[in-house]
Amino acid sequence: MTRLIVPQMRERKTGLILNMGSFAALRSLPFLSVYAGTKGFVKTWSQSLAYELEPDGITVSHVFSFWVTSKMSGFRNPTLSVPTPETYVQCTFDRLGLRCGATDSFTTIPYWPHSILNFIVSCLWDPRHAPPVQYSKCSAYKTCTKGDLIPGCPESEC
Ligand SMILES: NC(=O)c1ccc[n+]([C@@H]2O[C@H](COP(=O)([O-])OP(=O)(O)OC[C@H]3O[C@@H](n4cnc5c(N)ncnc54)[C@H](OP(=O)(O)O)[C@@H]3O)[C@@H](O)[C@H]2O)c1
Repeated sequence: MTRLIVPQMRERKTGLILNMGSFAALRSLPFLSVYAGTKGFVKTWSQSLAYELEPDGITVSHVFSFWVTSKMSGFRNPTLSVPTPETYVQCTFDRLGLRCGATDSFTTIPYWPHSILNFIVSCLWDPRHAPPVQYSKCSAYKTCTKGDLIPGCPESEC
């Protein structure tokens, strides 16, 4: 889709590409690994594309979201933290170009309760506070105090 539309946008010297991201890309998400991986891709791909296309007048934005009512999410009734798609889309267009609490480049968190959620989750999910990885049966890996897994590195270098 991007390959199809970017040449036309380049010709017009203007364009807007909104890519739907997800909190699934924040940290590991066991049992939703493919979904989390694709959202990680969407994030870094959008950011890279944004740098590439900026000189052509094309804006690329990574739209970061927590839950929205939909078939996929399974949420049927909206609440303060789970808006309807209509509310979400309206907020997205109202806040184009604004970060709204996002710390990543070219990223926006258009729905304000999601900005608060993101702040809370970022505080709670700080990777520096993650438990050390335990790979006791694999001698090629050492457990590092910061929770990083570095092949074969001595603990003192972690
Ligand atoms: N809902 C959430 O809580 C939430 C949170 C974070 C991010 N997101 C992201 O927001 C986006 C929309 O999600 P949603 O919750 O609105 O999901 P949804 O209600 O299930 O809608 C998904 C849409 O994608 C279409 N689709 C699915 N597979 C397709 C394919 N292979 N080719 C073309 N179209 C396809 C579906 O078409 P049909 O109707 O014809 O099946 C449907 O219109 C997704 O990228 C999702 O990851 C959603």
